[in-house]
Amino acid sequence: MRTALKLVLAIGTVVVLVIGGFTAYIAWSFANASISTVGEVEFARPLAIPPLAKSTVDAAGVRTFDLAMQAGATDLGRGEPTPTWGFNGAFLGPTLRATRGEQVKVNITNGIDETSTVHWHGMHLPAGMDGGPHQPIAPGANWSPQWTIDQPAASLWYHPHPHGETAKHVYRGLAGMFILDDANEVALPKTYGVDDFPIMVQDKAFDGSKLDDRAGLFQSTGILGDTVLVNGTPGPFLDVTSERVRLRVVNGSNARVYRFHFDDNRPYAVVASDGGLLPAPVETNELLLSPGERAEIVVDVRPGERTVLQSTPPTGDSNRFTGASDRLDILELRGAQTLTASPVVPATLAPAPDLADDTVGATRNVSLGGSNTNFGKMDLERVDIVSTLDTTETWNVTNADGQVHNFHIHDVQFQVIRYAGGPPPAVLAGWKDTILIPQGETVELRMRFTDFADASSPYMFHCHLLRHEDQGLMGQFVVARPGEKVGAIDVPDHDGDDHAAAEVSTGHAH
Ligand code: C2O
Ligand code: CU
Repeated sequence: MRTALKLVLAIGTVVVLVIGGFTAYIAWSFANASISTVGEVEFARPLAIPPLAKSTVDAAGVRTFDLAMQAGATDLGRGEPTPTWGFNGAFLGPTLRATRGEQVKVNITNGIDETSTVHWHGMHLPAGMDGGPHQPIAPGANWSPQWTIDQPAASLWYHPHPHGETAKHVYRGLAGMFILDDANEVALPKTYGVDDFPIMVQDKAFDGSKLDDRAGLFQSTGILGDTVLVNGTPGPFLDVTSERVRLRVVNGSNARVYRFHFDDNRPYAVVASDGGLLPAPVETNELLLSPGERAEIVVDVRPGERTVLQSTPPTGDSNRFTGASDRLDILELRGAQTLTASPVVPATLAPAPDLADDTVGATRNVSLGGSNTNFGKMDLERVDIVSTLDTTETWNVTNADGQVHNFHIHDVQFQVIRYAGGPPPAVLAGWKDTILIPQGETVELRMRFTDFADASSPYMFHCHLLRHEDQGLMGQFVVARPGEKVGAIDVPDHDGDDHAAAEVSTGHAH
């Protein structure tokens, strides 16, 4: 009897300890779930401006860049250097810049010890040059994609896209901007690093001086950090020397949705979205950007003043584990005593997207839920959608569960026809390649597949919350010529190339 009693007591103690520990962990998780850094960031470091990447132009007119992926260590304000990855440096990468009509080539070398890729987010280009999971670059190997720039001026970006490992590679620091120019002369601030700035916003969590990419138990969207880096600078300030500055804001974060506004609530002009200039500037004092999205904003600054770019909780979502209740100080703008004159933002900027009245060749339904789409989990061998060259399609994309999801598609820029049951807000009136979808809502997108058909080389569509993407919330589509059959998809692996016959999914929910 005594032994039995002891056993019961022992089991009881263990149960109490486990339950207590678990309760304590949950309580701790809740207590730590909301972050506020407002008023706590020192803004002691000048904002780093990524250099413009050098390039050479050969006799045939091809502009060639070199990008070397490498490991290094970076001062991220942790007392000692943080191990990081970067392009042509220890963290992040240079800004590539090219003009519509130019042929570009990028010589990439992989100097890190993992297979990676480099994807040109927002770029219209052949699938084989896209840098998705089908174009892996092994450690020590090179890859030299080449294509012709043929899309409006825009703020694009580049980042790795290795199968299942994108979150880690981006988090370690592999990302940079790719700015496109065109012949549309618009009176906006346009001198790089003077009145026109790249603003790559990324939140990081640290474990001592190391980047901590372990998401907490309830952080279903992935890692959220309490340190916001802009172009890799913690606590950055920017000395403004002109009456207006153009900020090309990239949400380069793994999981965080920002609602950008200034501490004094000043209005600013949103002049561009992912795919280029908006038809007209939109005056606002707040702007939502989810991971992968970009916006260009023009901000008025008065002599001698200071104002802080912040993120406040996005309205309509109170889930503290997705960062929706966080308040963050991001970047301080400091007006010089005398400011050079800047142009007034023009009332019209660029032609509006024109797909609303197009004949629609096919309508696709894509739903995002948990860690897969309605086609199933991402499968490198399965083609989910076969689109036809030179046709316009409607994609109805639904956020089917209670999580935060957005939607990104490669190769094309889309026009938003309907957003969550209504007409799109003015900031979504231009070309987009990534869009936040509120929980339970559907967005109606229209896009046209042009120029590049390759029935055996897929493009991706996916949620750009990188943990979801890695878990399988991604699908593949090919662009085929009319009547063309989908070819065998060349499926890479880390040891070499496997050739597998493509399986074309029926497109019905599994
Ligand atoms: Cu920015 Cu498929 O990625
Ligand atoms: Cu998602």
